[in-house]
Amino acid sequence: MAARTPAEPARTTLRVEDVTAYRGDALVVNLFEGVREPAGATGAVDKALGGAISTLIRQKEMSGKTGELTAVHTFGRLPVARVLVAGLGKKEKFDLEGVRAVTGEALRLLRRTGARRVGTILHGAGAGGLDPAAAARAVTEGAILGCYRFERYKKPEGDRKVLEELTILIREGAERRALEEALRRGRIVAEGITLARDLVNTPPNELTPAGLAAAAAAAARSWGFSCQILDRGQMRRLGMGALLGVAQGSANPPRLIVLRHRRGRQAKPAVAFVGKGVTFDAGGISLKPAENMESMKGDMSGAAAVIGAFTALARLQAPLHVLGVIPAVENMPSGTATRPGDILRAMSGKTIEVINTDAEGRLILADALTYARREGAARLVDIATLTGACVVALGTIRSGAFANDEAWMAAVREASEEAGEKIWPLPMDEEYDELIKSDVAEIKNSGGRKGGAITAAKFLAHFVEKTPWVHLDIAGTFEADKEKGYRVKGGTGVTVRTLVEIGLRLAG
Ligand code: BES
Ligand code: MN
Ligand code: ZN
Repeated sequence: MAARTPAEPARTTLRVEDVTAYRGDALVVNLFEGVREPAGATGAVDKALGGAISTLIRQKEMSGKTGELTAVHTFGRLPVARVLVAGLGKKEKFDLEGVRAVTGEALRLLRRTGARRVGTILHGAGAGGLDPAAAARAVTEGAILGCYRFERYKKPEGDRKVLEELTILIREGAERRALEEALRRGRIVAEGITLARDLVNTPPNELTPAGLAAAAAAAARSWGFSCQILDRGQMRRLGMGALLGVAQGSANPPRLIVLRHRRGRQAKPAVAFVGKGVTFDAGGISLKPAENMESMKGDMSGAAAVIGAFTALARLQAPLHVLGVIPAVENMPSGTATRPGDILRAMSGKTIEVINTDAEGRLILADALTYARREGAARLVDIATLTGACVVALGTIRSGAFANDEAWMAAVREASEEAGEKIWPLPMDEEYDELIKSDVAEIKNSGGRKGGAITAAKFLAHFVEKTPWVHLDIAGTFEADKEKGYRVKGGTGVTVRTLVEIGLRLAG
């Protein structure tokens, strides 16, 4: 795998300094909706600019609405050439997601103007009432995620504009240690997401199952977690007939990637993260239509999230034992491919009738979940770009969540809320089981169009048995089709933050 994208800005630092004294290229201040006379840091800048900001508010050039960015030139009244006033919207609605979004948007805009060194105030920490450390972490995440670019395959530009340094300007007496730690955490998590995005964006001719395994091994070496890679022969001996059935149509052989981060004495993993790693999903013999098929290079986004989360948990030295299992395959049509009508025997012993070879994710996850259970994982979370039906149900805003255990579902929901990644529970009534009963095998891999996201989850439930399990369907959230807030076009790295939060909570 080619070089990873380095974090931009490369440096995020804290400085106790009056905002009006900051000597960089630009300064970001903010404004809540409805404020007529800015106070605090924005007020100090307004005063230094001879009331320019309050004048613009009075003249209705500026209102503080969410997403509003107004560049004010300083013409020598401040050391910086530009002040960017960022609208934060209504004070009551402003949260850490707002901090990430406004930071990402503001820095992308300033980078376009050629700014290399930017100062910012800590959005939300004053009048916004947010915890300053949490806000500092969110600023760091928003900066690194919002400035992310995937340009490995582009011709290098001669005058490439790079944001080098972001300085968070804080008041005297602020809790410096806590803020420094928050910056470090934000960077570690954002770099985990950057790696996940890189993996999703890497083309499928390069990121084959072996390529994904090599990337996981490289990350493991860099950050000090363990990575074991099983080949086809080893999987055959384990009886992974469902996974191998998907893999058999491709010239690129499969891998099972097993990650382990272990700090402390826990013999068994407290949790296993299982990530779908289909490096390209052509659909197999049930071939997909040509339109947008290139987006199926991202069908390994669950795997990418697991690898990204492992880098963060290892770097944070989280005191827990966590297992990662990634079934990595390519789903291709060929003379050796599985046919609709074939019956596969999964590692658990269950027989599966293949109705549609494009319902491959559940097949490989079946064996990966069985593997995680045999390793003694106490809890399971799987992350998968599993169904188009989930995209229809929830769109691109929330990932679908399914579980066999109320308490574990509640814990995962709390973690995702804290992380700022939206998920939504969908039902798992017994009646849905009917739809995946087979006439010739124990179950079949497609229940048809009705309740497609649910029947896919129901299929997985057969392989987790009694172990508390949550399934996250990220088919709608794994990629973004436009720049918005801290998201840019391409892979989002979704669920990295949630998985890290789950790990940290289990570590206590
Ligand atoms: N990888 C796809 C699901 C997907 C669709 C992810 C759109 C991201 C965006 C999955 O393997 C698939 O093809 N699912 C089928 C299942 C059906 C054949 C039962 C689907 O959703 O159509
Ligand atoms: Mn498919
Ligand atoms: Zn797929």
